[in-house]
Amino acid sequence: MKFYSRKLIKPGDLNANDTLFGGALLRWIDEEAGIYAMTKLDSKKVVTKYISEINFVSSAKQGDVIEIGLAFQSIGTTSITFSCMVRNVFTKKVIISIEKIVFVHIDSQERPKPHHKTIHNLGFTQSSKA
Ligand SMILES: CC(C)(COP(=O)(O)OP(=O)(O)OC[C@H]1O[C@@H](n2cnc3c(N)ncnc32)[C@H](O)[C@@H]1OP(=O)(O)O)[C@@H](O)C(=O)NCCC(=O)NCCS
Repeated sequence: MKFYSRKLIKPGDLNANDTLFGGALLRWIDEEAGIYAMTKLDSKKVVTKYISEINFVSSAKQGDVIEIGLAFQSIGTTSITFSCMVRNVFTKKVIISIEKIVFVHIDSQERPKPHHKTIHNLGFTQSSKA
């Protein structure tokens, strides 16, 4: 898994319990994973199709710095799938884990469109997913 963006938790990111609001975190993850999908598929025409069970493992509080990690899982005809983990930069405590986030490549009519990518031309092997 590679860690990309880092975020400083600020007052506007908190819930009523004064810990990180899950909706804010999901927005950051969706954006980060969407950019990753665009770079891997060489296209900006990608949409989030599916997010599997989300495990909010532990909370984060104001002033914490978190980092968003993504790992390639699989590639299909029109889709690409990643897993995600978010952790505290300093303590490495896991905040959230998501087994599967699926993005679909679409055409100008927003219909699924083959991306013509394979595990090989993406530069991955089954044992070196990252
Ligand atoms: C993305 C969208 C165009 C796909 O249309 P669709 O008719 O469901 O497409 P298909 O059934 O042909 O599936 C397309 C791909 O998604 C995969 N897929 C579909 N449902 C899935 C699910 N529940 N879980 C995992 N993958 C799924 C399919 O396996 C297929 O992948 P492949 O071509 O690599 O094999 C359509 O669902 C859509 O527009 N959704 C809204 C997307 C959006 O707006 N997202 C932003 C957040 S609201």
